[in-house]
Amino acid sequence: MKKNIAVFASGTGSNFININNEIKKNKINAKICLLISNNSNSGAVKFCINNKIDFFIYNDKKFPNDINNQKLIDKIIPYEIDLVLLAGYMKRISKNFIDLFDKKIMNIHPSLLPLYGGKGFYGMNVHNAVFSNKETQTGATIHFVDYNYDTGPILMQKKINIKKDKSPAQIAKKVLKIEHEIYPKAVNFFCENKILWEDNKPIIKE
Ligand code: GRF
Repeated sequence: MKKNIAVFASGTGSNFININNEIKKNKINAKICLLISNNSNSGAVKFCINNKIDFFIYNDKKFPNDINNQKLIDKIIPYEIDLVLLAGYMKRISKNFIDLFDKKIMNIHPSLLPLYGGKGFYGMNVHNAVFSNKETQTGATIHFVDYNYDTGPILMQKKINIKKDKSPAQIAKKVLKIEHEIYPKAVNFFCENKILWEDNKPIIKE
């Protein structure tokens, strides 16, 4: 059975677009039913407009005081979503929303969590810190979402060697490349029902 996916993205949306492409190539048995974005000028929203994918702009300006994300929940429920993907989403998600999609919300983070995760570690901040600490390796992490930033159970990580990289920008480029490799894989494992849970840890059964 095809899984229904909702993606949350605030920016360029390259992970979202990449996953959508993999679905179109029949590499993943799923459908992206809805994009949620706080940013109506984002690349992710533009892609939806051009590709006739439903989207919903959800931000404080449009919905002031919606602290429990009720308006978001009301919007998403009719889509019968099986999996929620955070792909560069810059806003906090409420406990209510997370509880509604227990073990069904994944995030991608551009570091080897728990390193360089948590408040303030997003976008180039991550790669700048990795570079200035002279790390020899970094990578990307896919994890399920819990109530805090970047602390949920890890599903998958990929490491890369950055000894020869001369700038945070170079590192960022390399990391994004592996993000595009591992996020579709993780989504595919979910869609093929290959993720099992033992003691609150996700295990991939291939
Ligand atoms: C990625 O680096 C991802 O790890 C982080 O936000 C960025 C989103 O990039 N959570 P894009 O919008 O998918 O290009």
